Amino acid sequence: MAQQEDVFKKIVAHAKEYGFVFQSSEIYDGLAAVYDYGQNGVELKNNIKRYWWDAMTLLHENIVGIDSAIFMHPTIWKASGHVDAFNDPLIDNRDSKKRYRADVLIEDQIAKYDEKINKEVAKAAKRFGESFDEAMFRQTNPRVLEHAAKREALHTRFSEAMNANDLAELRQIIVDEQIVCPISGTKNWTDVRQFNLMFKTEMGSTADGAMTVYLRPETAQGIFVNYLNVQKTGRMRLPFGIAQIGKAFRNEIVARQFIFRMREFEQMEMQFFVRPGEELKWFAQWKEWRLKWHKALGLGDEKYRYHDHEKLAHYANAATDIEFQMPFGFKEVEGIHSRTNFDLSQHEKFSGKNIKYFDPELNESYVPYVIETSIGVDRMFLSVLCSSYEEQELEGGEKRVVLHLPEALAPVKCAVMPLVRKDGLPEKAREIVNELKFDFATHYDEKDSIGKRYRRQDAIGTPFCITVDHQSLEDNTVTLRERDSMQQARVNISDLHSLIHNRVSLNALLRKLK
Ligand code: GAP
Repeated sequence: MAQQEDVFKKIVAHAKEYGFVFQSSEIYDGLAAVYDYGQNGVELKNNIKRYWWDAMTLLHENIVGIDSAIFMHPTIWKASGHVDAFNDPLIDNRDSKKRYRADVLIEDQIAKYDEKINKEVAKAAKRFGESFDEAMFRQTNPRVLEHAAKREALHTRFSEAMNANDLAELRQIIVDEQIVCPISGTKNWTDVRQFNLMFKTEMGSTADGAMTVYLRPETAQGIFVNYLNVQKTGRMRLPFGIAQIGKAFRNEIVARQFIFRMREFEQMEMQFFVRPGEELKWFAQWKEWRLKWHKALGLGDEKYRYHDHEKLAHYANAATDIEFQMPFGFKEVEGIHSRTNFDLSQHEKFSGKNIKYFDPELNESYVPYVIETSIGVDRMFLSVLCSSYEEQELEGGEKRVVLHLPEALAPVKCAVMPLVRKDGLPEKAREIVNELKFDFATHYDEKDSIGKRYRRQDAIGTPFCITVDHQSLEDNTVTLRERDSMQQARVNISDLHSLIHNRVSLNALLRKLK
């Protein structure tokens, strides 16, 4: 675990050093849980968004996109339930004056029992060597059983308190478990209070009677309130979907793990409108399609798992997360929810407008049911970055850091390098750049030794390096070097375009989804 934490620290440092992600407002000492994407980060992020957008809107003739505004009428958030219920339970330590999420303090305590169990197992494994039967040990060792029983009891008590929204009980759990503040080391806790995660601002001048508006905490509501506009103007028939990519804002109290939990982030959401009664069939279908989309990237099938929700929100009748194995454990990257007709019915009620769909086949009107797929761009970015990062020991003791990014997502597709900065090689290299740049993000690099230049491109995940040498002037061939294998082949300049295209185009990735 400690080793994984070290790797994660290195990935964060690498993301900064190579222009992927910067702390926001860094020269003013930063703004917590807000990040900026640099010159390479923005390209990788745009490629992820393009992959999602095309998979939704090109491959499904019944899915269209929209781009709704961040500001929306405040009643929308009343109707959706966010004003009353989009809360985190908070607790303060009176000595350190630090604020915590009560649920996170308790979850960390549960994780401590897991750690204790794992330590016992690791100790025994060392002691018994090859003859160690881990399953048997877990079932019979008295210390493991004692920790497991405490963990289970705490987990049950915690779930019940959360489900019942019992804030006093959450505080009592913290007291009973003797949880201390990591800063002051004391147990001097306040009561637990609900804290709404939406950012508020004001629209219009005070003289006009300013209106409180919210920065949207999800993009989905922009889709719900436009559903009828799109259905009518696009003459859409059920089932159909609306996709949207955009910023969302949440005043997260516990913001940690780099871009995993941010206060300003980006979502890619799709609401799929279906006939009542058909929602669970479509839920199963979208669960399968979305996992296929992830796996097509080739980051490793074993790194994904579904986490089906046992406890459902009152308006949902099925929900699952797609989790990805981050260096800090399996974490949610995408949620797929069967949200019944809750949101649309609420908007019908609060707006007073009829937003029913007339089904010509059934000859009846109804409020459609909705399957939602919702993925965080930044979490997707983090999963791609973490699983691509490798420190490699090469023959001869040399080292390199390489990002094995899926080629279609790489910020730069190819780098063209003259072997030396003379004899007409730079001009020849520029000629190649001027051809390739219309289709691929292409770098020209003539600085430093060729070895150093390769390392720089490896570090940002460039799939191909093209080296122009003296032979190129004679026979129009160049060396094409592959990032992952580091193999080099002599190829004709006229073949470069198709060779690169076949590997880096989004098209090839999208075809895997058929
Ligand atoms: N419309 C449904 C919805 O917003 P959610 O589970 O709250 O559901 C969906 O969020 C996705 O948005 C998550 O799976 C995650 O990838 C991303 N996400 C949520 N909060 C985030 C945060 N604070 N920072 C980064 N990504 C976040």
